[in-house]
Amino acid sequence: MDQLIIQGGATISGEINISGSKNSGLPIIAATLLASTPMYLSNLPQLKDITTMLSLLRCMGVDIVVDEKMRVEVNSSTINEFEAPYDLVKTMRASILVLGPMLARYGKADVSFPGGCAIGSRPVDIHLRGLEAMGAEIHVDGGYIRATAPEGGLRGAHFFMDTVTVGGTENLLMAAVLAKGTSTLENAAREPEIVDLANCLVAMGAKIEGIGTDHLVIEGVERLEGCEYSIMPDRIEAGTYLTAAAASRGSIKLKNAHADTLEAVLLKLEEVGADIEIGEDWISLDMHGRRPKAVNIRTAPYPAFPTDMQSQFTALNSVSEGTGTVSETIFENRHLQVHELNRMGANITLEGNTAIVRGVERLNAAPVMASDLRASASLVIAAIVAEGETVVDRIYHVDRGYECIEEKLQQLGVNIRRASSKKT
Ligand code: UD1
Repeated sequence: MDQLIIQGGATISGEINISGSKNSGLPIIAATLLASTPMYLSNLPQLKDITTMLSLLRCMGVDIVVDEKMRVEVNSSTINEFEAPYDLVKTMRASILVLGPMLARYGKADVSFPGGCAIGSRPVDIHLRGLEAMGAEIHVDGGYIRATAPEGGLRGAHFFMDTVTVGGTENLLMAAVLAKGTSTLENAAREPEIVDLANCLVAMGAKIEGIGTDHLVIEGVERLEGCEYSIMPDRIEAGTYLTAAAASRGSIKLKNAHADTLEAVLLKLEEVGADIEIGEDWISLDMHGRRPKAVNIRTAPYPAFPTDMQSQFTALNSVSEGTGTVSETIFENRHLQVHELNRMGANITLEGNTAIVRGVERLNAAPVMASDLRASASLVIAAIVAEGETVVDRIYHVDRGYECIEEKLQQLGVNIRRASSKKT
């Protein structure tokens, strides 16, 4: 198992490129199942979750060619299996995103039921109820969701989502684009990754109105064609590096970053004391050596503050002046990093879903363990600003979401290396 070994105390300074978005790459790869002709995707990040999604399509018989620049050609017409097996789904919950496209295009799909995960129970009931509203018959058998479309295919439907769900909106959108008639999705999630997926579907020939709003109107079409599509930059990766720079009192310039997808985060970073400048495809942040000020955060669906950025802000608050609270409203168990941060000398107490973070002058290095993707990013930030050498274990979590993390941090002046830990 790999570890990251980080010598703390660096002030981040420099420029890096932001990779393509994992969370928009995953549904867009699933959307290739809808195309009657080959799709060409570019700007996909080289990450474990992306290769898992490609493996999932491959094991169903889909023909995929990946070149050295991660430009991916997908020809889904060779599909001959309609099952997403447990072995792959258990490693990545986003595998559920093949359900909608497979049902819409082929009228059947068996997808292993995704279990809970470290940050919460994460049900998929809304995905299933939405597909049932479009006429699908669904039953759960042997740990699998077994779904079939009615004679003649899925039918357009009006569906209200009682919880704002990113994956649910994506699955139902992908199902609706090939359904017969009109679908309306109410209280839809409007994360930028959904906009990216919708733009890709439109480029394939889909008819979607209300893109970027919580009211999507989809007019089903007969068929969709393959197209060339470049995945949007990863806003959470961008936010993570900005937060790391702020915590280290440093400065950073991100290239291939879209400020308009990060407004809530940039606003908070300004409150922290950062000077921020933005351009069409870049963001820069400068703390001018100042200590950050603690801020209060409350997560909520887009455009509010993203849950995927809260643990990084917990790390930032840990070394800030004053006290800040971080309240999580999306997932029930997303303060996994708190105990590890406290082992590094942070002063954080938990009250329900709120972390109360009293800033300390400095953190101290300690061996720590990553427990989920974003929690591990917060440990990396803490390690960068701590005194001494921190070993972050179980970094396969980090590798799920951060392409070339050590190369990028080295470019920013951080002393970081990867090593293999002895098996216990
Ligand atoms: C996606 C992101 C994840 C992010 C999350 C919230 C991907 C691959 N992952 O996850 O990084 O943290 O959005 O922004 O894009 N829920 C239900 N029933 C359902 C579906 C969801 O109750 O059928 C609940 C979940 O338990 C959770 C909330 O809705 O409490 C939001 O989850 P959702 O938006 O669906 O998250 P994901 O799509 O899994």
